[in-house]
Amino acid sequence: MRAFEYFLAATFSGISLAANVRIVQQFPNPTWVENVASTRNGSLLAGILGQTPAQLHIINPFSNATQDTLLHTFAYSNSIFGITEYETDVFAVAAGNFSSATANGTGDANIWSVDLRCGTTKDSVEVRKLAYLQDAQINGIAALNSDTLLFTDSWAGNIRKVDVRTGKYEVVLQDASTANNLSTPLPLGANGLKILRPNSVPSGNASPTLYFSNLQLGSLHKVSVDQHTGRPNGQVVTLAGNVGVIDDLAVTDDGTVFLARDAANDVVRISDDGEVVTLGGENSTILGPTAVVLGRTYKDRGVLYVSAMGGQQADGTYLEGGKVVAVDLTA
Ligand SMILES: *[C@@H]1O[C@H](CO)[C@@H](O)[C@H](O)[C@H]1NC(C)=O
Ligand SMILES: *[C@@H]1O[C@H](CO)[C@@H](O)[C@H](O)[C@H]1NC(C)=O
Ligand SMILES: *[C@@H]1O[C@H](CO)[C@@H](O)[C@H](O)[C@H]1NC(C)=O
Ligand SMILES: *[C@@H]1O[C@H](CO)[C@@H](O)[C@H](O)[C@H]1NC(C)=O
Ligand SMILES: *[C@@H]1O[C@H](CO)[C@@H](O)[C@H](O)[C@H]1NC(C)=O
Ligand SMILES: *[C@@H]1O[C@H](CO)[C@@H](O)[C@H](O)[C@H]1NC(C)=O
Repeated sequence: MRAFEYFLAATFSGISLAANVRIVQQFPNPTWVENVASTRNGSLLAGILGQTPAQLHIINPFSNATQDTLLHTFAYSNSIFGITEYETDVFAVAAGNFSSATANGTGDANIWSVDLRCGTTKDSVEVRKLAYLQDAQINGIAALNSDTLLFTDSWAGNIRKVDVRTGKYEVVLQDASTANNLSTPLPLGANGLKILRPNSVPSGNASPTLYFSNLQLGSLHKVSVDQHTGRPNGQVVTLAGNVGVIDDLAVTDDGTVFLARDAANDVVRISDDGEVVTLGGENSTILGPTAVVLGRTYKDRGVLYVSAMGGQQADGTYLEGGKVVAVDLTA
């Protein structure tokens, strides 16, 4: 995609954090892996962009031999965007249409429920539609609670919420931090988003914090939001700016963010005080990283999983097949 030629230069110095990178699963070239989510027992869900019908895979990252299974394909769409767990072992999966020729999400989108409680095979997984978004082009998604999901509409440049009981959706944040810029080749504003719950206080007593990236601005922001409505109840804070073409992110309990930088072929760690550090070391180049998620089991504590599209070139081809890698941050 020509659009990827356009990016803002990073402004931070070359500090880097040693990390070991292992390939968990590599797909044939071309395959754009757009998102990765971790489940409670360690399996990973990975969504593919730009292939009809849209595919969701499940991968066992602990197995030596390849253990990748095509879990489900989704009608009416060619791409899986965000994936988030909104009830124990039940994931909301955003599916829509993406055109790499225009770097555009087109038309509308659907959010599906992917229920793993009865199993993780093609036949045992239960899939049903949660919401049809007629005028939204969904990208990132994060569960606020079991009824409410927040998502970015990168092309409209805003963050919306959807009630999965009614399917109704509305804008909760649209300002300079979420804005897109239609005069640029890659007109995406708010992109990845994650919610940090206040685990350290008794539940119900504090507001969650919403973290989001803006591709257009190359910026990372956070804002406190009401736990029921998802509406901001504080100021939007900019944690970092000008970090380049950025995509989805992961956030740890202490507010440290790991952010995928598609064009720089790396992942950066951004601390709550705004310090930006590049993950470095042998094999740390990840061609076209798109999303990151932390391992959730004892076995993969300190492991960051990264999905990647394979490094798209100016002529639209890719340097390699997209993949999911495991980055050991404790190395
Ligand atoms: C880097 O990748 C090569 C080839 O896959 C592998 O042999 C080597 O062990 C890797 N290095 C580290 C530090 O993981
Ligand atoms: C998680 O559980 C499912 C079935 O409940 C199983 O198919 C899958 O292999 C498990 N994943 C791991 C990493 O053990
Ligand atoms: C996986 O590979 C490691 C290191 O090569 C080996 O020690 C282990 O036994 C293997 N596990 C399985 C299940 O094959
Ligand atoms: C993206 O699609 C929207 C409508 O879906 C259109 O208005 C906009 O011009 C498109 N942008 C580009 C860069 O193609
Ligand atoms: C995606 O595009 C296909 C083919 O044009 C169309 O049939 C489908 O309805 C579109 N899906 C959505 C969610 O807009
Ligand atoms: C949008 O992008 C154009 C082209 O790069 C630039 O000239 C303009 O200043 C940008 N607008 C904003 C609000 O950043």
